[in-house]
Amino acid sequence: MKLEIANICKNFTTTNGKLLPVLQDINLSINKEEFVALVGPSGCGKSTLLNIT
Ligand SMILES: Nc1ncnc2c1ncn2[C@@H]1O[C@H](COP(=O)(O)OP(=O)(O)OP(=O)(O)O)[C@@H](O)[C@H]1O
Ligand SMILES: [Mg+2]
Repeated sequence: MKLEIANICKNFTTTNGKLLPVLQDINLSINKEEFVALVGPSGCGKSTLLNIT
């Protein structure tokens, strides 16, 4: 099995109505039996990517 993420973008709208671009053109390919960690500073969009539907 393989996980493929292609050209993912995600914007949030802030409470004051501004557009917050969090993910822009994200591409990721994870192959069978690969172990991958998503690392980055707080607020960079890790949870947003993992929760995206
Ligand atoms: N529901 C939401 N509405 C508006 N902005 C949001 C929402 N969820 C997340 N954000 C914003 O999106 C950006 C990415 O947040 P996210 O939670 O994905 O970061 P993270 O990398 O998981 O951070 P951490 O390491 O602290 O868990 C942050 O600027 C956050 O404030
Ligand atoms: Mg998080």
